[in-house]
Amino acid sequence: MILDKHEKGSTLRIAVLASGRGSNFEALCKGDTGNGRISLLLTDNENADVLRKASELGVEGIYLSPGRYRTKFGEAEEMEWTRLLKDRGIELVCLAGLMRIIKGSILEEYEGRIMNIHPALLPSFPGLHAQKQALDHGVRITGCTVHFVDAGIDTGPIILQKAVHVKDDDTVETLSSRILEQEHIAYSEAVKLYCGGTLPASQGHIFKRE
Ligand code: GAR
Repeated sequence: MILDKHEKGSTLRIAVLASGRGSNFEALCKGDTGNGRISLLLTDNENADVLRKASELGVEGIYLSPGRYRTKFGEAEEMEWTRLLKDRGIELVCLAGLMRIIKGSILEEYEGRIMNIHPALLPSFPGLHAQKQALDHGVRITGCTVHFVDAGIDTGPIILQKAVHVKDDDTVETLSSRILEQEHIAYSEAVKLYCGGTLPASQGHIFKRE
C-alpha cells in the first residue's frame, strides 16, 4: 500500500483536529513541514485554547458539534466534519489531542491520510493517560509516536518515534512536559516526510524510502 497520494512538490493542505490546549497544533504551524501547510483547525470543543491559538496564528479555526456522545462522533456530525474537510480541499488530517475516536466517514474518506500523535512508544500504553501508564509500569524509557490512524485505538502503522528517559523523581507533569517537547519535533518531521512523498507502508509498517 502506498500512502502518499499527492503529487511531489505541490503544496499540500493540512487540517489539524484538536480538543484542547493546542501546543502540537502551534508547533505544526511554526515548524518545518516541507510543502505541507496547516490551513484549517477543527475542534469539537468550543472553549478550547486551540481556537484562540488558531486565530493568533492566522489559521481558519472552526468549532463543529461532534454530536451527543462523549468519546466518539455522531454519524451525521462526522459526515459534516468530513464534508468540511473535503470542501476545504484538505489532503492530510493531523489529530493533535483530539479526545474522540474516528471510525466513520472521516476514516473512510481519509484512511492512509490521517496521522495521530500519542505520548508513548506504541504499542506500549495506548489510550488515555499514557504518561501515567508509563510511570505506573516503571519503564525507564518512554516517548512519543506519530502513526497513521486505523480503526483501532492507537494501533495504526508507526511513522516515527522519539524516546525520552524516565527520571527517578519524575511526576506525570515533569515526564509529560519532556515528552511534549519531543512531540513538537516529531510531528513536524513526520508531516514533512509524508509531504516529501517518502512514506510507503508495507504490512502495517512504515519505512523511509532511500
Ligand atoms: C498531547 O500530549 C498528545 O500526545 C495527547 O494529547 C496531548 C495534546 O496536547 N494525545 C493523546 O493522548 C491521544 N491519545 P496539545 O493540545 O498541547 O497538543
